[in-house]
Amino acid sequence: MATIDELQLQAKEAVEAADSLQTLNALRVEYLGKKGPVQALMKQMKDLPKEEKPAFGARVNELKQEISGWIDERRAVLEKAEEDRKILEEKIDITLPGRKHAHGNLNPLNLVRQELEDLFIGLGYQVEEGPDVVEDLYCFERANLPKDHPARAMQDSLYVDDEHLLRTHTTAIQMKVLEEMAPNPIKVICPGKVYRRDDDDATHSHQFTQMEGLVIGENVPLSDLKGTLEFVARKMFGQEREIRFRPSYFPFTEPSVEVDVSCHMCGGKGCPTCKGTGWIEILGAGEVHPHVLEMAGYDPTKMNGFAFGIGIERMAMLKYGIDDIRHFYTNDKRFNDLFDRFD
Ligand code: DAH
Repeated sequence: MATIDELQLQAKEAVEAADSLQTLNALRVEYLGKKGPVQALMKQMKDLPKEEKPAFGARVNELKQEISGWIDERRAVLEKAEEDRKILEEKIDITLPGRKHAHGNLNPLNLVRQELEDLFIGLGYQVEEGPDVVEDLYCFERANLPKDHPARAMQDSLYVDDEHLLRTHTTAIQMKVLEEMAPNPIKVICPGKVYRRDDDDATHSHQFTQMEGLVIGENVPLSDLKGTLEFVARKMFGQEREIRFRPSYFPFTEPSVEVDVSCHMCGGKGCPTCKGTGWIEILGAGEVHPHVLEMAGYDPTKMNGFAFGIGIERMAMLKYGIDDIRHFYTNDKRFNDLFDRFD
């Protein structure tokens, strides 16, 4: 019986030391398999005296049950440990920030352009665009700037050939629309890129963006221009904004005005943004010149109207406090991301 006790102890220790299910399976085969020691004891039974057989058999059977029981217990322990390990390993920390999908954002020039378009469309305007290369006729002559007119020098130009140039202002679209619509009423805005030979610095660019406005009808009062621009200025820069007209000169309007909006930074008291004046110039405008109407095919004694030209870069720089015009064109994603449409 000594060997049985030894075997019992040995098996118990081996099972308790098993640190994996594989080892445990191997132990089951080793101890309880056909070639194992328990089976070998069973085989010894036939050589024993008859009276010893029952006790020996019972002892071996008991041992077999015991080993099997220890293995099952150990299996349960190991399985539980394995499950705990997996749970820990697969734990999801729901407080971690999610993985963000990268997305692009609109350039603020397009944001401001769209905002202005929405405002004007709400006032009943239509949007008209045109080609970047235009005839000298529409860029200058129809705008009351005949060849060799000194005011052409205000817009140093990029010519493609003698008669074609990159439009220097969206007024070129205005002149085309006038010709196409005459003698009918008009209410349009014309946004687009414009080009002038210019320095490239913090406030100048050889290419920039404008939005022309044009309203033609019977007895269109200049106060409509004021009301329209006041509405737009307030939507863009806040409801407390006031606007004022200052006399100016443009060849294609008479009278011509420069339009200022009360400073949205200081409310009109005077600050660096408005250079201490309390006012910020936002655009040029005026009554469409009778000669311009005539050249396009209107009877200026019957129809009149107003026009205005907004600089989109200027609007965007004022609205968002951007200090360098080149930010719009350098295509730095970090700049556009400041205007995140999902924020
Ligand atoms: N075309 C002018 C410029 O580029 C802006 C402008 C001024 C447009 C007065 C107009 C206007 O339609 O009425 O400087």
